[in-house]
Amino acid sequence: MSRVAYVNGQYVPYAQAGVHVEDRGFQFADGVYEVVAITDGGFVDLQGHLVRLERSLDELRIDRPMTRAALSVVLRETVRRNRVRNGSVYLQITRGAAKREFAFPAGIGPTVVAIARPLDWNKAAANAAKGVAAITQPDIRWGRCDIKTVGLLPAALAKQAAKEAGAYEAWLVDEKGFVTEGSSSNAWIVTKENVLVTRAPSTEILSGITRAAVLELAKREGLKVEFRAFSVTEAQAAKEAFVSSATSYVIPVVTLDGKPIGNGGPGVVASKLRSLYEAHAASHSTDWQAPFIAP
Ligand code: PDD
Repeated sequence: MSRVAYVNGQYVPYAQAGVHVEDRGFQFADGVYEVVAITDGGFVDLQGHLVRLERSLDELRIDRPMTRAALSVVLRETVRRNRVRNGSVYLQITRGAAKREFAFPAGIGPTVVAIARPLDWNKAAANAAKGVAAITQPDIRWGRCDIKTVGLLPAALAKQAAKEAGAYEAWLVDEKGFVTEGSSSNAWIVTKENVLVTRAPSTEILSGITRAAVLELAKREGLKVEFRAFSVTEAQAAKEAFVSSATSYVIPVVTLDGKPIGNGGPGVVASKLRSLYEAHAASHSTDWQAPFIAP
């Protein structure tokens, strides 16, 4: 079956799908995106992702192309036309196309692209059951990591370093030696006292929608949560560590730069949070969805 992309109001076969050579997403990374998981044909935490998308657009003064409800219809239709039951949908909105000039051009409208692709959730579950390796990399990103922009080169470089080291993720480290987040996920540790620690929402990290859901699920379990920075040394000495993201859910990190964390296997807390999040994702709940926690 040939894949279909949504591009500016039309559903187009991949071979014919494209944007203008002077699109500002291409020339300046002047655009934002969201990734939403799909399980058994339903979206996971869609509302939170759409709220964060609107905030990203507003922060960059990119016009909102349509209402949240209309965007949901586009995403649903993209998923339907690609017959994706389990996978993810990617939505990208740029400031639009115009003659190359740094300042915002007048009189253009945003470019909107959506694509859907299948994903084998069993593979993510297998990674979670084994636990994954992470390495550290310097955080060389810009000062507004709270905005989910398509300016992902530092993340791509970090992920490549992880791949070359045989690791699943790179944890990014600030100048003071504290972990900010993963290259495409949020970073967490569990202390010896069973306290969950993850960095406070700020301009230094992307406030994850999955993280917001996991925080809520953890609180319901009676777990204590601290929003604070932790160092690489603290992480290596922690009882457990894990990552969260829309496409990973919760995955235990069992080594950091080659040093085993805890007993070197997936921890009890991370495994419990994963199963709670799996149930939340499978429920396709419209009563409760993860909120976006603004910095
Ligand atoms: N990445 N931090 C960064 C830098 C991310 O790129 C992501 C998500 C997250 C987790 O956010 P959420 O829980 O809302 O997915 C944190 C997506 C999955 C991606 O770029 O593919």
